Amino acid sequence: MAGKVISLLGLQWGDEGKGKVVDNIAKDISAAVRYQGGHNAGHTLIVEEKTMVFHLLPSAICHENIRCYLGRGVVVSLDALFEEIDDASEIIKGVEEKLVISPACSLIQPYHIKLDQLREKSNTSITIGTTGRGIGTAYEDRVGRRSIRAIDLFNESRLHNKLTEVLEYYNFLFVNSFGQEPIDFHELYDLNLVQAERLKPLIGNVGNEIKQLIEEEKSVLFEGAQGALLDVSLGTYPFVTSSNLIGGISSGVGISPTKIDYSLGIAKAYTTRVGQGPFPTELDNNIGEYLSKKGGEVGATTGRKRRCGWLDAVLLKHIVYLNGIDGICLTKIDVLDGLESIKVCTNYKSSHAIEDILESMILDEVEPIYTDFKGWNEPTYGLNRFEDLNSNARKYIAALEELCGVPIVMISTGPKREDTIIRDLI
Ligand code: GDP
Ligand code: IMO
Ligand code: MG
Repeated sequence: MAGKVISLLGLQWGDEGKGKVVDNIAKDISAAVRYQGGHNAGHTLIVEEKTMVFHLLPSAICHENIRCYLGRGVVVSLDALFEEIDDASEIIKGVEEKLVISPACSLIQPYHIKLDQLREKSNTSITIGTTGRGIGTAYEDRVGRRSIRAIDLFNESRLHNKLTEVLEYYNFLFVNSFGQEPIDFHELYDLNLVQAERLKPLIGNVGNEIKQLIEEEKSVLFEGAQGALLDVSLGTYPFVTSSNLIGGISSGVGISPTKIDYSLGIAKAYTTRVGQGPFPTELDNNIGEYLSKKGGEVGATTGRKRRCGWLDAVLLKHIVYLNGIDGICLTKIDVLDGLESIKVCTNYKSSHAIEDILESMILDEVEPIYTDFKGWNEPTYGLNRFEDLNSNARKYIAALEELCGVPIVMISTGPKREDTIIRDLI
């Protein structure tokens, strides 16, 4: 990986195990960058028996000699950021010294969170099952050109004017559409000014620093949050998050899209989803319950139970193609240990091709057709050499490679950093 620019992307509906994988490969990289999303992400890693969950900070931050960046495409709640920095600093040295935040980041303000939660609670519109973190509402302001950006906090009169205008807009909604109390301008303005002081030393030109690192042939990792099926353009709209995944790297950092050398996709050996939306392979039975319990499938951000189902190779192959994935890291294979048989969706009962199904948003109309694979009793848990995997697990992996058309270059066999098989990573 030396000198390479790598994009790491979840290939399903999030929670594929990205945090663990980033942490595993971070020892070989110089810089880790978040370029989209916000504190809706929950990336878990376990290092020396300590469990950490990162929401906004790049998951590589526990490594020494690494620079961590939040690019301009990230929506930043300063409340969440400072809380996370404080928590992380109890375990990790020099968190703030490693971190650089773009002045162009749009800020998540309390009114974004309030509106997100009010909408989710109201029964007048469809609910998405958001994380309630104000992500969609903050991105609405970004495209609506109303955002308060990080740089605005350092110019008092500009902040005053922008906040006055935007609060008028939100308070009208709170009072008239939801019968709520308005948000107090002075309280929020003062909070922004206090937060500005702490934010100031963290601000830097992220795009420029990444450009320089790439020119110096340093290895840079772009850490996608969420998963490709939650991409606002390519995913299962409207049951998506509000940012672009791999396609957002260029605009979310400020680099040319041609700079990416390698795209590593992360896929779970089964599928999970949090929140509403179509999920053809969902298992509403004892196997779904088994995967949920054994896989510990509880949301790292909201604590919600994740919906579970079999791996969907039809969707996976298509997502691999759409996102130009070069290699896959297959995670949580150990959760399948002990199952007599394992199903993979290899086709749909539908007169439409997958390209049309996603483009026309009719994924809720398909029925999966499964191929059965023999399970295994010999545990894969904790293995770190490919040769030690039993032959049925190897057959399963080979079949997935064939179905997706790209190699499985890494296999994660447990939640800890060292529970990893590396086969052929660049
Ligand atoms: P992320 O959002 O993609 O980073 O994934 P999450 O952290 O939300 O969820 C993944 C969960 O699975 C976490 O609890 C991880 O500790 C755990 N995990 C990651 N990889 C593996 C694995 O290979 N096996 C098992 N059993 N657990 C894993
Ligand atoms: P990581 O990075 C799983 C889902 C929410 C909801 C939809 C929109 O840990 O994989 P939002 O709050 O973003 O407007 O919610 O997207 N969602 C995630 N699901 N993992 C995540 O992040 C998610 N981030 C958002 O559950 O369905
Ligand atoms: Mg997660």
